[in-house]
Amino acid sequence: MEKIIVPLCRPDIDESDIARVVETLRSGWITTGLRVREFEQALAAWLGVSHVVCLNSATAGMELVLRVLGVGVGDEVITTIYTYAATANIIRHLGARAVLVDTLRDDFAIDPDAVARALGPRTKAIIPVDFAGWPCDYTALAALVRSARSGFSPTAANPWQEKIGRPVILADAAHSLGSRYAGERVPLGADFAVYSFHAVKNLTTAEGGAVAYRSHSFGSAADADAFARQLRLMALHGQSKDALAKLDAANWEYDIEMCGYKHNMTDMQAALGIGQLARYDAQLARRRTLAERYHQELRGARCIHPAWLESAGGARASDVPRHESSYHLYPLRLEGYGLPERNDLIARLAEDGIAANVHFKPLPLFTAYRDEYSIANYPNGYAHYVHEITLPLWPGMSERQMDWVIARVNALAR
Ligand SMILES: Cc1ncc(COP(=O)(O)O)c(C=O)c1O
Repeated sequence: MEKIIVPLCRPDIDESDIARVVETLRSGWITTGLRVREFEQALAAWLGVSHVVCLNSATAGMELVLRVLGVGVGDEVITTIYTYAATANIIRHLGARAVLVDTLRDDFAIDPDAVARALGPRTKAIIPVDFAGWPCDYTALAALVRSARSGFSPTAANPWQEKIGRPVILADAAHSLGSRYAGERVPLGADFAVYSFHAVKNLTTAEGGAVAYRSHSFGSAADADAFARQLRLMALHGQSKDALAKLDAANWEYDIEMCGYKHNMTDMQAALGIGQLARYDAQLARRRTLAERYHQELRGARCIHPAWLESAGGARASDVPRHESSYHLYPLRLEGYGLPERNDLIARLAEDGIAANVHFKPLPLFTAYRDEYSIANYPNGYAHYVHEITLPLWPGMSERQMDWVIARVNALAR
């Protein structure tokens, strides 16, 4: 049997991307400048929101949103155990407490009932994670934060918390660029959505991220503009003018308004992102076609497919039909598997040239988290972890590679 090499994912970079990056390299301006502004505007139009601020990662985006909101020592932020460490690490960077809750039993998403139990007077934010690209239940989460209005006490001297007047929903949308929740690319129930353009993501700038939001949480467009300015200031050492503005003749002088951070996106990264976004609709369609093939052709009795593919058309049968995944990952679960069988399957697929992976190892299993959180309190997330393998999925995957993965998984996972 001739083995076929199938990586887990590959960035989709075409000649036009390369040309655009080279053009930027030759332009004489490579750090944050006009290309970043162009990418932000294109993203805002495509996402259907008023504001997008690009940064050097989703991690930076989530952390800066919470910093501008004044979240810190004495505060709590609720998130899920079923995520990459970035989501919870940033809460600790702020000095706040990460209140970790479990997922649903049949779905990788955060359990709104568990969030309801965790909500308290110290809660300043909830970070739901759109795992693999499938949106969380933003209707339920938005109802929860609305109901928390009466017990909410804003951090002293933070104008944003006072204006919003309740805990915010900050969607960790690292996986979900192009997902839809009730038809919207950025769910109406989310105050902010933060995207990742890391090398393995659906749309990449090698490293990069974006914060997207509408004015409605703030009440006025001017306040929403002021929030964007604050994010940009904090992303560049609190410097009142960015490097491009300072280049104008006789416009060198600037202030440092606060001790900010260094999280800006470069024009080289944005140049890559602009081309990727231009053909992203086609990439999404291709991802969906591949995911539907897995769904139809992996037919082992033990295969539990992602719930969002259970009905034709990519929407969950029992749910509002206008939800849609971005098909970032294909997380297959194997009924009745334990850790040794799951790990053995990954090893055997590797022998066949196929790179499978696991998303995610729940946070309480890591050294940095296990002292504070016990995995015994998270039975749903733990069960997902034990049963899950992530299969290769990227738009450039050939039919031959797809056939090979399907044949080997069907042969090995029975
Ligand atoms: C769920 C989730 N959140 C956040 C991040 C962090 O993204 P970035 O690497 O852009 O900071 C990742 C990256 O893998 C992720 O998977």
